[in-house]
Amino acid sequence: MKKVLFVCLGNICRSPMAEFIMKDEISKRNCKANFVVASAGTSDEEEGNPVYPPAREELARHGISCAGKRAKKFTYSDYAEYDYILCMENSHVRDLRRVTGGDPDGKIFRLLDFSSAPHDIADPWYTRNFSLTYAEIEEGVRAFLDSLSKEI
Ligand code: 4NP
Repeated sequence: MKKVLFVCLGNICRSPMAEFIMKDEISKRNCKANFVVASAGTSDEEEGNPVYPPAREELARHGISCAGKRAKKFTYSDYAEYDYILCMENSHVRDLRRVTGGDPDGKIFRLLDFSSAPHDIADPWYTRNFSLTYAEIEEGVRAFLDSLSKEI
């Protein structure tokens, strides 16, 4: 069993998209029972809010529901709870390294560092390009799962 937490700033756009894209991908790969998947934000600004409508609509275009998801802030106890903490940007990695005393267990990564073209996933709050966000997250999730299957 692997526990995976996706992290962005607000937990209303990128990390919930990653949470539900990952759930869809593990369902397609018939390995849902091997994972616990969730998401959180580095900020408490959006705490309790549902997924931002354009992000929800982009997921729905791919047949994915994120019903019931509410934003939550990353807490120190999440660090012990999860095996992989996958951030959307280097700034989130830096924030979480501060909160966790420098990531002593080596659990914090940037999602696209698992791909062949490592980079930050741009914030769609500003780019407004939710289909690009979806494509980049999907690429990262697939690369992450492929890297785990090579490990086994
Ligand atoms: P997220 O997007 O970090 O992908 O959830 C954002 C959500 C809210 C804000 C910025 C980014 N904001 O400034 O309120």
